[in-house]
Amino acid sequence: MCGIVGYIGKRQAYPILIKGLKRLEYRGYDSAGVGLINGSNQLNIYKAKGKVLNLEETAAQKDVSGCIGIAHTRWATHGEPCQANAHPHVSQSGNLALVHNGIIENYASLRDQLKEKGYTFQSSTDTEVLVQLIDYLQNSYQIDLLEAVQVALHRVIGAYAIAIIDKRTPGRIIAARKSSPLVIGVGNDEFFLASDATPIVEYTNQVVYLQDGDIAVLETGKPLKVVNLENELQPAEIKEIDMNIGQLEKGGYPHFMLKEIFEQPECINDCMRGRVNKETHEVILSAVNDHKEHLLNARRFIIVACGTSWHAGLIGKQLIEAFCRIPVEVEYASEFRYRNPVISNEDVVIAISQSGETADTLAAIELARSKGAFVYGICNAVGSSIPRNTDSGSYIHVGPEIGVASTKAFTGQVTVLTMLALTLGHEKKLINDTTYTHIIDELVQIPDKIKEVLKQNESIARLSRIFTYAHNFLYLGRGYSYPVALEGALKLKEISYIHAEGYPAAEMKHGPIALVDTEMPVVVIATQNAMYEKIISNIQEIKARQGRIIALVNPHDTVISKLADECIEIPETLECLEPLITTVPLQLLAYHIAVCKGKDVDQPRNLAKSVTVE
Ligand code: F6R
Repeated sequence: MCGIVGYIGKRQAYPILIKGLKRLEYRGYDSAGVGLINGSNQLNIYKAKGKVLNLEETAAQKDVSGCIGIAHTRWATHGEPCQANAHPHVSQSGNLALVHNGIIENYASLRDQLKEKGYTFQSSTDTEVLVQLIDYLQNSYQIDLLEAVQVALHRVIGAYAIAIIDKRTPGRIIAARKSSPLVIGVGNDEFFLASDATPIVEYTNQVVYLQDGDIAVLETGKPLKVVNLENELQPAEIKEIDMNIGQLEKGGYPHFMLKEIFEQPECINDCMRGRVNKETHEVILSAVNDHKEHLLNARRFIIVACGTSWHAGLIGKQLIEAFCRIPVEVEYASEFRYRNPVISNEDVVIAISQSGETADTLAAIELARSKGAFVYGICNAVGSSIPRNTDSGSYIHVGPEIGVASTKAFTGQVTVLTMLALTLGHEKKLINDTTYTHIIDELVQIPDKIKEVLKQNESIARLSRIFTYAHNFLYLGRGYSYPVALEGALKLKEISYIHAEGYPAAEMKHGPIALVDTEMPVVVIATQNAMYEKIISNIQEIKARQGRIIALVNPHDTVISKLADECIEIPETLECLEPLITTVPLQLLAYHIAVCKGKDVDQPRNLAKSVTVE
């Protein structure tokens, strides 16, 4: 949801800002813009609709000099994606430029008040109100920029991460956050600023994660200063980040999504490293050990998440209920936060999020904590808001996920949920030693089994070409495979814009079967597990209506291979671990269909990686 970059120091800011914007483009790509103060204290603003590439074209041959600048890549909330609505927004006086991520909820009333004071507006964004308000306060009360920002933010209702520059004080950037992330990179006599650490790692590994209510003052030749809205000094703890540039590049793959799909064997190994002991057959999740009391005595688990993370939660429910016999509810964070859920200090809430910044999931956590529940986070982005606002949790350690469609984060989340359920089930003595050892034995083999699936990439690409004609797809699965069907359908619609629905296979005959005709591809997860016979019946039902079947089957399946139009082979494993494997060919199928249709796989239209607005 919008990406912010800033730089102040001795280098030329423009190349740093552009590179940073490209790293943040996954957060939104409706428009991009940059604001620089040059050596003659002139403020130069360049903006373009669409991607950062368009911005570079717009700024080509123009004055992009200057050692201080701010930049923005936008995911539209208020106001259509167009050049006028692109950030930075400039104040009426022409002195200030501001970039913003978040939503100013009371912008309409503030705008009316400012209009009465003679302000005119160039855009239809909520953000422009903020820069005009700061300008108005500075000019009316003759106060310094920092003070004007503090007063303005007192009047604002909503969420923000902002960065602002003033051409009259060209050695200073002021940045502030509330409910939207902002990270400061501390270099040698220079500062970097970004919505996440990815634009910063190339220059420094020393970062400060701003807290809600923090205002940072970045000045050349001075140490970082962080204050709050009341101007009281705040601690600015410098943390060392462990991320390298290689993790942020495509590494020879045509798209980040494909790279991330192929990284999954390694990612799952990373996720299990130090947690699953292959020799002693033990799983140790340190956070679970540290909080056994809460977790083992939970009356109920409530999993809150959005999108793909919610699908991982559905698998988590089945695992926890099967291994631990504790009831689990899985809720969309956006629904949970606006209900009045029955929840108490006997409940444990598990919040799952790749980005760790999803606004609805954060609000659900806040609600759960206010009701006394213990909150456990399962996140990927280290140091993000969710791990900072939960009582405990586990990182999935799959590395930065750049492709907007989530892939490796999903399998990482399911791996952590599996380890969590196994640990608790074994502690509760509900899984005997033999079963526990057997599941762990199978779990450690999952990365190699995924590699077997990845070897079919070419054949899945060929198969995908056959189905690019389709306007609708159905995905069917039962038991553990039902959430996989949902996830397969979500991947396809996100990146190929083909309408797709996931269903529990048996639900077909209660409605969706009406859609099946000769045109309709139906993807069925039909591995040989307890549901195998039932799934065969479901396939027969589709066949009888001339639907076209793509089946995920175990090797040597002679029954379904006769019924299905196309088959993808899935190595055998335990039913409870199957989602870790069966998801992968569905990711590849969606990927190749989208590529065949010429879609922008890594940055699909209307989406953003990090949904920091509700
Ligand atoms: C789907 C996808 C989204 C996210 C959802 C939650 O590919 O990426 O559905 O899963 O926006 O995001 P996180 O996990 O960051 O909370």
